[in-house]
Amino acid sequence: MFETLQKATLDKIFVLMAEYAADPRTNKIDLGVGVYKDPKNNTPIMSAVKKAEQRILDGAKTKTYKGVVGNKEFSQAIVDLALGGVVDASRIRTVNGAGGTGALMTLLHVLGRARPGGKIYISDPTWPNHIPLAENANLKVEYYPYFDATTRKVDFDAMMKVIDGLGGNDIVLLHGCCHNPTGANLTKAQWDLVAESLKRTGAFPLIDLAYLGFGDGLEEDAYGVRKVAASVPESMIAFSASKNFGLYRERAGVSIAIAKDSATADVVSSQMQNVIRGTISQTPDHGAEVVRVILEDAELRAEWAAELKEMRERMQRLRVKLADAIRRKSNSKDFDFIAEHSGMFSLLGLAPDVVQKLKTEDAVYMINDSRINVAGIPEDRVDELADYLIAAAG
Ligand SMILES: Cc1ncc(COP(=O)(O)O)c(C=O)c1O
Repeated sequence: MFETLQKATLDKIFVLMAEYAADPRTNKIDLGVGVYKDPKNNTPIMSAVKKAEQRILDGAKTKTYKGVVGNKEFSQAIVDLALGGVVDASRIRTVNGAGGTGALMTLLHVLGRARPGGKIYISDPTWPNHIPLAENANLKVEYYPYFDATTRKVDFDAMMKVIDGLGGNDIVLLHGCCHNPTGANLTKAQWDLVAESLKRTGAFPLIDLAYLGFGDGLEEDAYGVRKVAASVPESMIAFSASKNFGLYRERAGVSIAIAKDSATADVVSSQMQNVIRGTISQTPDHGAEVVRVILEDAELRAEWAAELKEMRERMQRLRVKLADAIRRKSNSKDFDFIAEHSGMFSLLGLAPDVVQKLKTEDAVYMINDSRINVAGIPEDRVDELADYLIAAAG
């Protein structure tokens, strides 16, 4: 049987993680893997999560199936969090996803059924997994320009040249906030223009919302998704609770579909359920239930929001510190963009051989395309890291 198979390539991030783990150097710095790190370089369980888990453990009476749509109260809490009431509930339908990736998978499969072989426009660059997810759902991947490698800002004019030219059969995948990998994000005014364009052309937005609360704040980060969802008749949102609740391995996410009316929403809902049933049958519930408990309890919710704020502010502080150190040492503003970006990542714009050299000579690990996870910046070694980066950038 297996003789017909060829070895598949793993996402480069897993190779890098293994290399980092095997590196015996004690001064190694991990800016690679996309998980939040605390000052001790751990990815902690949030205290609100611990408390919610204890409550669940104490009160649990059954592990029976939840049903194909999953934990409805979790989904509702996420709809409220992400959309803030800007869309009438009669047009919204949800199913749980196995993480944000699972939520994307379900939505993309439904879109692949609605437009078999249809085009989906993805930002260049993007989170690499968007591409197989879309292709596996029978969609054809096209790109819109996103990042200006010189300014390290969004190349909005180039992006809009493509977006403005789309038609009613096209799908656009947008990062709701905290763009991965670049860290460069749309301003509110730019979101307004994107929303206007989608309304005018009828192109269909699918918004990947994997980092709500990691950028400027829970409300601030929701601006784009709310603006788009309120402006167009139909859209979809894939929500991940992996980062903002630190629930990575629990696989908690929500697929949100918004249709032009309630009857259409019912059809979309049946399709989403059909995808779930025919793929994983039921979605994981532990992480979903943890989020439900937190968001429905005023005290736990406040505790979670405060912890999330601390994480966000730590990443912002690390950005400023690294940018300041590089400016001070090199007398150049070339890396100021690190402080201007938001979210967990920045794309440094270094060539692959420079990235390789940083790894082999300085034990500084980042993704090949020079994406860094700012949460991995060691706060007590910012000056040292600045020296490595200045020398590498030449
Ligand atoms: C842009 C983006 N979308 C979606 C995800 C999905 O995350 P998960 O499936 O772990 O919830 C990630 C995770 O890295 C991401 O960076």
